[in-house]
Amino acid sequence: MTSAHNRVAVLHGVNFDILERRDASVYGGLSLYELEAKIASWARELGLETIFFQTNAEGEFCEYLHRVPELADSAIVNAGAWTHYSRAIADALAVAAVPTVEVHLSDVESRDDWRRVSVFDGLVLEKISGKGPDGYREALARLAGELGSTPR
Ligand code: DQA
Repeated sequence: MTSAHNRVAVLHGVNFDILERRDASVYGGLSLYELEAKIASWARELGLETIFFQTNAEGEFCEYLHRVPELADSAIVNAGAWTHYSRAIADALAVAAVPTVEVHLSDVESRDDWRRVSVFDGLVLEKISGKGPDGYREALARLAGELGSTPR
């Protein structure tokens, strides 16, 4: 068992498995594999360990959140479209109760009205959107500060 207290679970929701096939002018054209590689590398620089999860099944996303307190000390969540309506995922995140940052690649504030709504309001430390992959770097830095992790 580690006592490092530096583990970040990075959760991606629905349609992130095909990220490279989504509108590149909105999402940047990179694959989830490429995005996760960037996140893992930035995390290492900050002295953080990452574990990654993606599913297109809402119940599986909830079940993974149930396990997050055993697996990690903090979380980054990009739940995709579920962000805007899944109370089930919000309830599961409340139970996980680890420091969490919500990230979106695109600027959810300046797209459709329904994308402005987040079920995670009040449950996350911060919501970062519209910064592409760099948003994850910012989220990791915030969590490193919360966890007291030191850069390498
Ligand atoms: C997203 C924004 C959501 O509105 C959308 O449904 C996604 C991706 C983002 O990362 O920009 O699937 O979460």
